[in-house]
Amino acid sequence: MDMMDTLVSLCKRRGFIFQSSEIYGGLNSCWDYGPLGVELKNNIKRFWWRSMTQLRDDVVGIDASILMHPSVWAASGHLEAFTDPLVDCKSCKQRFRGDEAADGKCPRCGSLRITEARQFNLMFKTYMGPVEEEGAIVYLRPETAQGIYVNFQNVLAPSRQKLPFGIAQIGKAFRNEISPGNFIFRTREFEQMEMQFFVKPGTDVEWLEKWKAERLAWYAELGLRPGKLRMHRHSQKELAHYARDAYDIEYEFPFGWKELEGIHNRADYDLSRHQSRSGKDLSYFDDAAGARYIPYIIETSAGVDRTLLTCLVDAYREEEVRGERRVVLRLHPRIAPMKAGIFPLVRRDGLPEIAADIARGLRRHMPVFVDDSGSIGRRYRRQDEAGTPFGITVDSQTQQDGTVTVRDRDTMQQERVKIDDLPGHLRKRI
Ligand code: GAP
Repeated sequence: MDMMDTLVSLCKRRGFIFQSSEIYGGLNSCWDYGPLGVELKNNIKRFWWRSMTQLRDDVVGIDASILMHPSVWAASGHLEAFTDPLVDCKSCKQRFRGDEAADGKCPRCGSLRITEARQFNLMFKTYMGPVEEEGAIVYLRPETAQGIYVNFQNVLAPSRQKLPFGIAQIGKAFRNEISPGNFIFRTREFEQMEMQFFVKPGTDVEWLEKWKAERLAWYAELGLRPGKLRMHRHSQKELAHYARDAYDIEYEFPFGWKELEGIHNRADYDLSRHQSRSGKDLSYFDDAAGARYIPYIIETSAGVDRTLLTCLVDAYREEEVRGERRVVLRLHPRIAPMKAGIFPLVRRDGLPEIAADIARGLRRHMPVFVDDSGSIGRRYRRQDEAGTPFGITVDSQTQQDGTVTVRDRDTMQQERVKIDDLPGHLRKRI
């Protein structure tokens, strides 16, 4: 089994991620997050939100709606330019993105009977209201960014921000991808964590550099191995229709180096287009410069699901311990779904009751679970596979001196800690 198949099966077994509508055979490229998956996802989003808004005084947040006025997508250029080239194989009848058949050969059956590429718009269309007519067409947003641009003036006044400042948002986006795949790497429904930083024209190059460094540092804080990350600058051919300059933070996945986050200099493209199409003034008066101008925008755009996949891939290890194979997810304790498993060594002598008491006390501080079934070795293995950083074992000594052993998932070292000291001890290590 290759590494991705192994990961998909671990995710199902441990309750991280399931295929959507599985009992009906599944829906291609749609996935559901289970009990551990949703905790991990929320932890990633919380960590991003905290770093990008709460720990800074120059970025504020919003939460805009998914459905927006259709004119937004005309102004943004998505109706016209948010397309992928689509080709058909006349032999096996499969469809591919143009770049997948760049050598003129079908990537599935090798046939040379490939059609000319035609442009396919990636936006999902639907109708607003009961009548399915041209005037009722709306789109599911393909990026969260536009919700920020159209709210620029709304946010500016009440937040009392001055340039340079940013607006951040986390939310769902939808793209009718021609070739989704690699588990949750490329899907048709996904979440983005985007931040648009408004700057004075002429300072954009400097701010692009600052945000590249900030965002790379964020992934290191998330616990990813720095050697697996790199920065890729877009060539002229790769640049999106809105970008003047762009970098991808890439990660080395088992299927190659791939984009994890995009950092773009969008210059005044978006605000100018919305200003001219809406007829509303989206300029900014700069007191210090005594001038009015359309701000430039530096965007940082990360995918929640793709970040989550990266954390899982990066954390996955198969190790040999005393002749036995162990699978462990070395997730950073900060984002691990459960912080500790509590294990009464036996199901008698009052140990389960002590374990339940410890869990009650710890739950106010962090998510924990009690596991009293199977041998202690098996319980540790389950803890390791779920990425739980600490295992707390309640044994006969607990009753005598009120201490438990705390096992570290990564080093497998154990130390005795007083029950009363557990919240402080674990918090320090998380
Ligand atoms: N607003 C700019 C923008 O959307 P992008 O490079 O198209 O830029 C940004 O997307 C990020 O969103 C990507 O780096 C990736 O993490 C995530 N993303 C994009 N398409 C995705 C898809 N089909 N499935 C999962 N994540 C996706």
